[in-house]
Amino acid sequence: MKITIIGTGYVGLVTGACFAEVGIHVTCVDIDTRKIDNLKNGILPIYEPGLERMVKENMKDGTLSFSSSLADAARDCQVFFIAVGTPPGEDGSADLQYVLQVAGQIGQHMSDYAVIVTKSTVPVGTADKVTLPCGGCHSNPVPMI
Ligand SMILES: NC(=O)c1ccc[n+]([C@@H]2O[C@H](COP(=O)([O-])OP(=O)(O)OC[C@H]3O[C@@H](n4cnc5c(N)ncnc54)[C@H](O)[C@@H]3O)[C@@H](O)[C@H]2O)c1
Repeated sequence: MKITIIGTGYVGLVTGACFAEVGIHVTCVDIDTRKIDNLKNGILPIYEPGLERMVKENMKDGTLSFSSSLADAARDCQVFFIAVGTPPGEDGSADLQYVLQVAGQIGQHMSDYAVIVTKSTVPVGTADKVTLPCGGCHSNPVPMI
């Protein structure tokens, strides 16, 4: 199985490393090209116990890779995880603009049936909003989690 995680921050990097550790092929994508270049060179942006070992070993084994291109990572991908930020607005509500932006990009680049998981912190009902930009661009049904 191949999964793509979009947003390689605290949540995306740890999630990706854990899936790779159990043998799933993972590509972690981020728009921050410096972060991706550093990760490719084994330089992690955060500290979590055991994370550096997991990232380095799984990169070496070929189960974990990093990319700044969602178009490339989306090829033959069965599961997309959205793990971008949802900063709180003045009223405390989550700003969904980055999640919906990524949903649109997934819709453009997914090549076949895929499951889309919203891992970012979002309010109830967001899956319906994510479905539109994802599914609206694609003829296949798109399960949302
Ligand atoms: N940090 C936590 O402990 C934690 C726990 C639970 C839930 N969450 C939630 O998970 C989500 C992510 O949190 P985080 O702490 O990992 O955020 P983060 O800011 O550390 O990481 C988000 C990453 O997404 C990238 N990004 C933004 N737009 C992008 C795009 N269009 N394409 C690709 N990458 C893009 C950013 O460059 C950044 O590296 C938030 O909704 C947060 O509330 C966080």
